[in-house]
Amino acid sequence: MVTPELNHKPRIVKVERTIRETPTIKTIRFKDNPSSKAIPGQFDMVWIPGLDEVPMSISYTSTEGLAAITVRSVGPATEALHSIVEGQMFGVRGPYGRGFTLTDNGEALLVAGGSGGAALAPLSDLLSKIGVKHTVIVGAQTSSELLFLDRYERNVSAVGGSVAPVTEDGSYGIEGLASEVAQDMLRKHAYNMIYSCGPEAMIKSLLPISLRYSIPFQASLERVMKCGIGICGSCVIDSLRVCREGPVFDGETLRRLDEFGMSRRDHSGRRVPL
Ligand SMILES: Cc1cc2nc3c(=O)[nH]c(=O)nc-3n(C[C@H](O)[C@H](O)[C@H](O)COP(=O)(O)OP(=O)(O)OC[C@H]3O[C@@H](n4cnc5c(N)ncnc54)[C@H](O)[C@@H]3O)c2cc1C
Ligand code: FES
Repeated sequence: MVTPELNHKPRIVKVERTIRETPTIKTIRFKDNPSSKAIPGQFDMVWIPGLDEVPMSISYTSTEGLAAITVRSVGPATEALHSIVEGQMFGVRGPYGRGFTLTDNGEALLVAGGSGGAALAPLSDLLSKIGVKHTVIVGAQTSSELLFLDRYERNVSAVGGSVAPVTEDGSYGIEGLASEVAQDMLRKHAYNMIYSCGPEAMIKSLLPISLRYSIPFQASLERVMKCGIGICGSCVIDSLRVCREGPVFDGETLRRLDEFGMSRRDHSGRRVPL
């Protein structure tokens, strides 16, 4: 168990390895004991000196004290993380937030959209380790953006289940949306839990499907974060702070949130449509 004080103390870490996952997504591995003990779904605040500090899911952990973040390049901070090379330094504090709650019976369905795999792949690693059968739907716009397919394949081959790649342009796997494929699978098969991370529109369309089939649902949300520890309010959704009460929320909670799938705060705190 990591103490909160230790989590909160910023650490300077050295890049051990970088991995090009897709044309827009890169993984950065580093040694950091607190991060290596993260629960799947938790995040670090990642400091790029002189530029910004941004939240990143911890996408990999190991018993040897290694951790990783998996970054999609969308703006200045994430572009800077893409240009980082082995041996360079950056800062981390965390892990923060509420991660996924484990199901230890039956079969789980994981629905990962885009870089949402950064939060779901470590969950798949853990489910595999504790022997929980699971199926993973991996969604992307096109084949080259499918994230962590081999990793999921290895995990499900150890416990049973399957991996279903889904592309919007039909260039690989099933053509369509991950949420449509999830609906199809839920019609044919009984699952005990749905876990999801990805675009909020995808999570929003999965919620009523989970209700229709009476299956518990957990999803990880993203909002602009500044403090990461519940003080500044930049990450609020309705009255909840994504950094403290989330980023993983259950279906019951999501159903009550007016802003879910509708709006978020921008960097100045103004509410903007999603
Ligand atoms: C808990 C959590 C975990 C995250 N995990 C990952 C991860 O594993 N991998 C990853 O690539 N990204 C992740 N993100 C998103 C990541 O933090 C942002 O993409 C990053 O902060 C963008 O910074 P930037 O300077 O590169 O781009 P900016 O210029 O800050 O943003 C680029 C665009 O994205 C929008 N944006 C920025 N941050 C958010 C946000 N939080 N929610 C919605 N829109 C946003 C901006 O309004 C702008 O349109 C996570 C976010 C949260 C809250
Ligand atoms: S980021 Fe400051 S309250 Fe959540």
